Amino acid sequence: MIDTWTQSKDDSHRLAALANVAMFNEEGTANCVSASPHLTHPMVCDLYAQLVARTFNTAKKYASMPRVLDLGAGEGSATLPFLELGAQVTAVDISESQLAVLGQKCRRFATRLRVYGEDINEMLKGTEERYDIVVMNSFVHHIPDYLAVFQKSIAILRPNGLIFTFQDPLRYDTLGRGSRYFSMGGYFFWRLFQGNYLQGLRTRIRRLQGIHIPGSKEDDAEYHVTRNGVDQDAIAQLLASESFTCEIIRYFSTQSSIFQRLGLFFGIKNTFAIIAQRV
Ligand SMILES: C[S@@+](CC[C@H](N)C(=O)[O-])C[C@H]1O[C@@H](n2cnc3c(N)ncnc32)[C@H](O)[C@@H]1O
Repeated sequence: MIDTWTQSKDDSHRLAALANVAMFNEEGTANCVSASPHLTHPMVCDLYAQLVARTFNTAKKYASMPRVLDLGAGEGSATLPFLELGAQVTAVDISESQLAVLGQKCRRFATRLRVYGEDINEMLKGTEERYDIVVMNSFVHHIPDYLAVFQKSIAILRPNGLIFTFQDPLRYDTLGRGSRYFSMGGYFFWRLFQGNYLQGLRTRIRRLQGIHIPGSKEDDAEYHVTRNGVDQDAIAQLLASESFTCEIIRYFSTQSSIFQRLGLFFGIKNTFAIIAQRV
């Protein structure tokens, strides 16, 4: 009998992966930094650097040279700092353009770096390796069935291993109305200066009607950003059921730097990071 449930999950994963290949082509790679709050705003970058250091220092208690697996490594925003701290890193990404930038940035650490240019599902399926840290930076929301990726990550962690995620949108229906409207306001303010208005308007109207086009780059690449965000509670529950401690760190992030400052000032939270450890 064909398992239609698994089959449809596989289809969504494949379509989202292809949308990411299209999104992170050369042009997308060149533009992605300016559209990524975690790579541009100093207050978000500072928080990220603190959490990377914390995760690494915890792993260091159990391994002299922690082994890190960076899923959806992109242009190296997690790979590079972990290499700089002294880790061995395996970076996986499906976009050649992103990995070309990563290769350039991390050149001086070549002896401690391995790079796989493929879908994470393929890589995870074939690996016998065990890791001290699995990191997913701005990645969970790109994967339709992210809970399955957490399950697979758990399976390849060493005892006391850690999972560190950063820069995913909190599930929208768990935000207060004020935070939700403020976040939308920040996005629209930024979007005003990005051009391509007709297409933006059409896409927005379609989404407001709850219509997603499978295979569309706009709808599938940032999979959960265009749906209901990422379910932080479901992830925390899964991790707890696998005997992990799990800290959810909530913070504010948006593309517009004015709104970024305002959001911080008003104490709004719309984004999360996770540090989880097997105990
Ligand atoms: C928003 S970028 C994040 C890159 C980097 N981690 C960062 O924080 O800047 C998401 C990355 O995930 C990659 N990606 C998306 N789906 C993937 C998949 N199924 N397998 C491997 N890489 C994938 C994309 O190619 C892209 O480089």
